[in-house]
Amino acid sequence: MAYLIGIDVGTTGAKTILVNEKGQLAASSLQEYPLHTPRPKWAEQDPHDWWRATIDSIKEVLQESGVDAADVKGIGLSGQMHGLVLVDQGGEVLRPAILWCDVRTTEQCHAMTNIVGKDLLVRSTCNPALEGFTAPKVLWVRDHEPDILEKASKLMLPKDYVRYRLTGEIAMEVSDAAGTLLFDVRNRQWSEEVMNKLDLPMDLLPPCYESIDVCGTITQKVAEITGLKAGTPVVGGGADNTCSAVGNGIVKPGRVSASIGTSGVVLTHTDEVKVDPGLRAHTFCHSVPDKWYIMGVVLSAGGSFRWFRDALADAEVAEAKSRGIDPYELLTAQATEAPVGSEGLLFLPYLNGERTPHGDANAKSVYFGLTLRHSKAHVIRATMEGITYAMRDSLEIIRALDLPIGRIYATGGGARSSLWRQMQADIYNAELVTINIAEGPAFGAAILAGVGCGVYESIESATDSLIQITSTTEPQAANVAIYDEYYQVYRDLYPALKPQFDAVTEIVARVHG
Ligand code: XUL
Repeated sequence: MAYLIGIDVGTTGAKTILVNEKGQLAASSLQEYPLHTPRPKWAEQDPHDWWRATIDSIKEVLQESGVDAADVKGIGLSGQMHGLVLVDQGGEVLRPAILWCDVRTTEQCHAMTNIVGKDLLVRSTCNPALEGFTAPKVLWVRDHEPDILEKASKLMLPKDYVRYRLTGEIAMEVSDAAGTLLFDVRNRQWSEEVMNKLDLPMDLLPPCYESIDVCGTITQKVAEITGLKAGTPVVGGGADNTCSAVGNGIVKPGRVSASIGTSGVVLTHTDEVKVDPGLRAHTFCHSVPDKWYIMGVVLSAGGSFRWFRDALADAEVAEAKSRGIDPYELLTAQATEAPVGSEGLLFLPYLNGERTPHGDANAKSVYFGLTLRHSKAHVIRATMEGITYAMRDSLEIIRALDLPIGRIYATGGGARSSLWRQMQADIYNAELVTINIAEGPAFGAAILAGVGCGVYESIESATDSLIQITSTTEPQAANVAIYDEYYQVYRDLYPALKPQFDAVTEIVARVHG
């Protein structure tokens, strides 16, 4: 039987899965690593940590499964998007990677919009200059650490650094390249025009492939360390969001996914390039050859719930530990004690600014409408509802583009709890489904490897045969009506508070540096 490996170089850790050609899991390993925030707005990781974690997770899946490495027909890589890795001529990392959730680059975003011009940004990169994307990070390094950029021979994204270590090849693929803002998303190639305007050399950019193309093989040295077979092909792979889309079957028009992980993502497949005229949602290349997708990103979705757990739920964490269960189980159970709409308590999940729809690094989180009636159960429920309203903001952008929307495929933490599934169906006012696969982006990466290495004929046929719907949640009319009213209030809160978000940002920067 043929086996495939999918590796996701995520924000919290590297996850490697080993599956057989029927999509059955043989083994899985998650190896965590730290995220560093040395200054406000900064978020960095050490690429060597990704490497160590990847190696450990590969070793673990091979050992645990007992699968013969010769049966592993291909490897696919997935990864957190946008993170900037700079290496010198000898392939040495020049500084810590600047991550997707790092928002230090507001000044560079303004500069980039001025230099490149909004027209070219829309025409070529299909997206606005946002703090999270890669190009503003490159400009930040040029502004603040010019000697580093001078020494840089190549720019890479997180999974591509891991590819480099696995295969010795420096390469990228279209779905991740699209998130650099240096890529011509319509024509699926690097944008020489944008690079020229920014006065950046084209040779900083690695060669770029489609996600299913083989662009390297496992080296002898890596084979010795991991137990993999030298020469095992490694395909381009994809951004975590496209790999997750592939792993959820979002590979045809009308399919939409709502994923609540650290960030929240609402994503739909498009056969042609479609751009939100307000540039609030992103248009990127899909991992399906010659297809695209539209995506809205909530920066702190599950991340908000994790913040709540860490900052305000010591009792639940301790109880969960003593009972050997997940603290989120206790939190969601408590949330059911509060009614739909949390009796007017609303939460804005802008703990680290917000991407879609506001594109505003200064946006802040708010609990609005607290009264004496509100208990902890209300606060937990309001937190979950606020995250889900933020997801609906992205869905509304997709709806406004007149794209077909069928059922919504829920994934991530938000799909695990029945309360959250019902909440999502009600807030989105759509049928919500879950599927038999819970392995996330790593599974999509394994499918891409399978297509690239000839195990499957196409991404579409592979997903048709591997993915089945396992649960369906219908919206309940009474809840839909209540949520609709609160959602309108939710939408009005950001513009009403925008001047105060800016004022607080300025004071904090001045007082606390
Ligand atoms: C997408 C984005 C995030 C990261 C998370 O634009 O920034 O979803 O890919 O890993």
